[in-house]
Amino acid sequence: MMTDPLRRGTRIAHIGIAVDTLNALLPFYRDILGMPEVLLDDADGATIAGVAAGESLVELLEAKSQDSPIGRFVAKRGPGIHHVCFAVDDLDDTLARCRIAGLRLIDDVPRIGAEGKRIAFLHPSATGGVLVELSEY
Ligand code: CO
Repeated sequence: MMTDPLRRGTRIAHIGIAVDTLNALLPFYRDILGMPEVLLDDADGATIAGVAAGESLVELLEAKSQDSPIGRFVAKRGPGIHHVCFAVDDLDDTLARCRIAGLRLIDDVPRIGAEGKRIAFLHPSATGGVLVELSEY
């Protein structure tokens, strides 16, 4: 079977972890685990510190305000894993398959995420309680 070199396959792009403060957690990933820091943009009312784990990232998400998505998450559930982001070969086709399957989307239309790529979130009620973010490569 021929493999399309442009198709790379779904992979974990990053795991988003909600933290109380970046300063408390970044040294664990960067200095103790030795993960290189990656500069990321702020997104969704959160300051984001990225560290690389091979081709994947860990994104530490610190809320800028209590009424941001991360602020509400931490207030309700405490710090911890917030979402998993999968990079997919064709974001629009994948979202179309989600719609056909009747999955509830948070983002009907892709928008720009912290890595500067197009992303869209699915609703955790559609994915077994896990908040899933889809990203283009
Ligand atoms: Co994310």
